[in-house]
Amino acid sequence: MRKKVVAGNWKCNTTVAEGVALAKEVNDIVTATDVVVVLGTPFTHITEVVKTITNKSISVAAQNCAAEAKGAFTGEVSAAMVQSTGAKYVILGHSERREYYGETSEILNKKVALALANGLTPIYCCGEALPIRESGKQNEFVINQLQETVFTLSPEDFKKIIIAYEPIWAIGTGVTATTQQAQDMHKALRDAIATKFGNDIAQETSILYGGSCNASNAKELFASPDVDGGLIGGASLKAADFNTIIMSY
Ligand code: PGA
Repeated sequence: MRKKVVAGNWKCNTTVAEGVALAKEVNDIVTATDVVVVLGTPFTHITEVVKTITNKSISVAAQNCAAEAKGAFTGEVSAAMVQSTGAKYVILGHSERREYYGETSEILNKKVALALANGLTPIYCCGEALPIRESGKQNEFVINQLQETVFTLSPEDFKKIIIAYEPIWAIGTGVTATTQQAQDMHKALRDAIATKFGNDIAQETSILYGGSCNASNAKELFASPDVDGGLIGGASLKAADFNTIIMSY
């Protein structure tokens, strides 16, 4: 059975004290045991948040890692450093990183390799912008994003990855993909994974939906057979809403 995952992406929000308080609230409120809950916090918060979490269902993620292992790269945080904090996951390839920080497939391949080499589970994001959706070429575009990156991994490594489909037009906009749009894309991605790695691996791969997923729409989205959870931005900053999303299964 593939894992159900609800991951929060706090983005560039909260001070350390606010983040620890939020993590504590989530820690205390979550009772689900069949959902893997992940808190994607800023780098500065990870060590403190890891110390705060006692709930076995909850793990911590970084939102990025460096494309280099170590060395003279001022301001970068390596996968080994992330691993040394106690974080178990790393969000990679988020559209905001691709768009604002120029992250290409080539850079992302290095990050994924380093994350895996350091025992971190990448939550690998993909998704199309509105003009691509309007042109009807979204499946081709998103599958190509995977072909250039995580489809170049060995089957053993690909099995360790979580995919997050996040249509850019739905991120932070309040416009959610319809359940049908999400299901159609997730099915297309699962089919592409099956073609590349075989049906067994495709059936075991968790594919999350992200983009204005919230306490009101999560239940309907998660009811789709190929939607295995969510990557949650804004709604992950409120413990009660985040827990409602977790309980939406
Ligand atoms: P959102 O963000 O839930 O605020 O739309 C999702 C994401 O960017 O991961």
